[in-house]
Amino acid sequence: MSGEGGETPSLEARGEELERALSQVQDRAGWEALRVQWIGRKQGILRSLLDDIKKVDPAHRRAYGEAVNRLKETAERRFAELDASLLAREREAARRSAAVDVTLPGRRPQLGSIHPVTLVIREMEEIFAELGYSVAEGPEVETDYLNFEALNFPQDHPARDTQDTFFLENGLLLRTHTSPVQIRTMLARKPPIRVICPGRVFRNDNDLRHSPMFHQVEGLAVAEGITVGHLKGTLLAFLRRLFAPDVEIRLRPSFFPFTEPSAEVDVTCQTCKGAGCEVCSGTGWMEILGCGMVDPRVLAECGIDPDVYSGFAFGMGVDRVAMNRYGGIPNIRLLFENDERLLRQVRG
Ligand code: DAH
Repeated sequence: MSGEGGETPSLEARGEELERALSQVQDRAGWEALRVQWIGRKQGILRSLLDDIKKVDPAHRRAYGEAVNRLKETAERRFAELDASLLAREREAARRSAAVDVTLPGRRPQLGSIHPVTLVIREMEEIFAELGYSVAEGPEVETDYLNFEALNFPQDHPARDTQDTFFLENGLLLRTHTSPVQIRTMLARKPPIRVICPGRVFRNDNDLRHSPMFHQVEGLAVAEGITVGHLKGTLLAFLRRLFAPDVEIRLRPSFFPFTEPSAEVDVTCQTCKGAGCEVCSGTGWMEILGCGMVDPRVLAECGIDPDVYSGFAFGMGVDRVAMNRYGGIPNIRLLFENDERLLRQVRG
């Protein structure tokens, strides 16, 4: 520092130098580096110019000091201005990159679709609604009484073994069929009763054809004078609507504790139309549901006088119908893996 005049011109040169440097800044990193270099608190150029004030000859000190402070103010203002213009540039760039390019092809929105099991349940509900049935539902966690006892499965009855029950605590269980909803309905309503009860059921069984959770639709009609003829006529009307107007059905004697007599119902195989194929093991028939006349003991247990009223009931698995309906889904587990590809293939 000479201390002899000259400081002001050299500060002017400094000012020009700063302007040149500012004009070359391209981006924020450059701005930040230059800011530290010039007005950085510890080692910035202005810091050292300010420190010089005390070294200047007292005669020039005041003028020098004023000039340095002017330069400092100018520098701060110019950095702030450049900051603002960089910010504006950055915003503009962000806006441009986010802008919609109307020349690009559109992206199709992903549409959800209804699960094949739900589709089949809805279809069944619709058919039965036309036949005058309403829908009843019940809980998936049931008592032993409603799932078994009231349906005439006494404690040690061997038919309980066929149900592969998942037992819970406190005498509760996961319902093994939708039949307890029959009991709930009869306990809650007086005849005439016509309900169907769709829902999830659970059994400890798991292979290509069985899933520990599957779906059933149960049906129940109770009134005066109901006969096997009504049962057969209802099932024929229902299955013809569900499959095809020309399907035939056959009833094979069977056993369920809660119906007497009981039958299993087969329908013409929809793959071979009755000719016999792999799907039906050459029989031409597909087993589709279980049914029977409500056992008088079950009616009595629900407070319905079996001498006045009679009824029929039926129950069927929905999943197998869905597998059959939607292009032969070969494995029941495919229905419950939530693989979107399945849903895309079976849009109803
Ligand atoms: N609950 C039986 C089952 O899961 C199906 C069934 C058969 C229901 C006959 C009925 C019926 O209502 O009458 O195996």
